[in-house]
Amino acid sequence: MFRVLVLVSGGGTNLQAIIDRVNDGTIKDTEIVGVISNNHGVYSLERAAAAGIKAEVIAPKDYPDRSSFNRALLAGIDEYKPDLIVLAGFLVVVPEIVIQKYEGKIINIHPSLIPSFCGTGYYGLRVHKAALERGVKVSGATVHFVDAGTDTGPIILQKAVYVEDGDTPETLQRRIMEEAEWEILPKAVSLIASGEVVYKKPTDMRN
Ligand code: GRF
Repeated sequence: MFRVLVLVSGGGTNLQAIIDRVNDGTIKDTEIVGVISNNHGVYSLERAAAAGIKAEVIAPKDYPDRSSFNRALLAGIDEYKPDLIVLAGFLVVVPEIVIQKYEGKIINIHPSLIPSFCGTGYYGLRVHKAALERGVKVSGATVHFVDAGTDTGPIILQKAVYVEDGDTPETLQRRIMEEAEWEILPKAVSLIASGEVVYKKPTDMRN
């Protein structure tokens, strides 16, 4: 079985989308072996419990400094022996020590069409506010491998979503989740689990 670990910060609708596609057999030969949240009391933890998935909290505020949190997160991840780590609305910058150890085995969902509205400071509703302020007619979501930069790793899947008249950051966020994120994140997991998508270091791509 392909072992998937999901990292979350909040409500966990993207986590739920992956759980549902594993349970209905769309994602084959795959087990969600655990969920790690950086926040206590979030609904993602209940979703994991309801699905019978081990879940735990590793929160920065429970550690004296950032480097001890980073080490705890790496140790927590290691316990699950994951083949793939999915950042599903995970709002913590992934520590360098995690990226080095799991290069090519971490993916992230970002709620815009990268390279628009991404990078430092573009998270949550800020992404959609910036898109509306710029007046784009199309936005969407992107699944990409995680590298040392912010939203800079190789792109796996993207899906476009139209902006509608009268959209607010909240309505646009919701439509992008429903029409794009919940579709392409499980699909990316499936493509990697089946070996149809393989990570190549950016330098390899020129070969
Ligand atoms: C999604 O919009 C995701 O793209 C962003 O945070 C949100 C997470 O939502 N990074 P959820 O926790 O999966 O419901």
